[in-house]
Amino acid sequence: MPERKMSPVLKWAGGKTQLLEHIVGNMPADYNNYYEPFIGGAAVLLGISPEQAFINDVNEQLVNLYTQLKIAADSVIAKVNEIDATPCTKELYYAIREQYNTKISSRDFDSECAALMIWINKHCFNGLYRVNSKGLFNVPYNNKVNGKSIDENNIRAISEYLQKADITITCLDFEKACDGVSSGDFVYFDSPYVPESVTASFTDYTIDGFTIADHKRLAALFKRLDGIGAKVMLSNNDVPLVHSLYKGYNIQSLNVKRMINRNANKRTGKEVLITNY
Ligand SMILES: C[S@@+](CC[C@H](N)C(=O)[O-])C[C@H]1O[C@@H](n2cnc3c(N)ncnc32)[C@H](O)[C@@H]1O
Repeated sequence: MPERKMSPVLKWAGGKTQLLEHIVGNMPADYNNYYEPFIGGAAVLLGISPEQAFINDVNEQLVNLYTQLKIAADSVIAKVNEIDATPCTKELYYAIREQYNTKISSRDFDSECAALMIWINKHCFNGLYRVNSKGLFNVPYNNKVNGKSIDENNIRAISEYLQKADITITCLDFEKACDGVSSGDFVYFDSPYVPESVTASFTDYTIDGFTIADHKRLAALFKRLDGIGAKVMLSNNDVPLVHSLYKGYNIQSLNVKRMINRNANKRTGKEVLITNY
């Protein structure tokens, strides 16, 4: 549908750019509505650019970013360029981070908040997104003086796509975001992953706040959607817990490179792609 190929605006943990071809190759040939309840960096949505989609994420700033790219891309671009005009230093990074956190605290979700989020993502350590108990962003500076923080043509292409296609953007828990799914729809789930070290009896909180109870809730939803005749695909780590939660479905193992890991030895891993069709 869009004239040019689009790519994610943010570096995002679990970004699916490298697995995109494989994911797309395993999608059903036809379906009605497309649902992506954990949109994250949106690599899959932007890769397939469906004419209609329900996209969702629980991260309010991320949802604001897509909303602003849709309605106010020029303002977002102008603000990022304005910050980029000054070479980045440690002082500038922390000043921008403070501005961003002031926006978050006052729930001031606008084009400026979206621009700050993009700029910070390019200048923070490893493109991580981490907040403290008060919900404030606390990732340190990556010590790099980058050039431009955005590809303007990519942002304009995304904006045009979000305007022309029928895209509904919501900020809900994944279960609620699937309320409207019906027979013949296609849902792609890319939740935060089960940690590699976790066992089936592990019940504690994971670092990203997505608990084992959440993974069980997701597996129950997968089953429910399967039961109503939806087509469902899910990505996760290749660990025993995931195999036991999705027993009976088609489970493919895939080798992946992991960019966001402090330890260079842990930058390869195994994931699964699970389908009910
Ligand atoms: C692995 S990332 C998705 C990566 C994405 N496929 C990409 O290519 O960048 C998981 C996303 O799930 C979101 N998330 C975490 N808990 C959630 C929940 N309960 N409901 C909806 N989204 C949630 C996070 O904010 C994060 O953006």
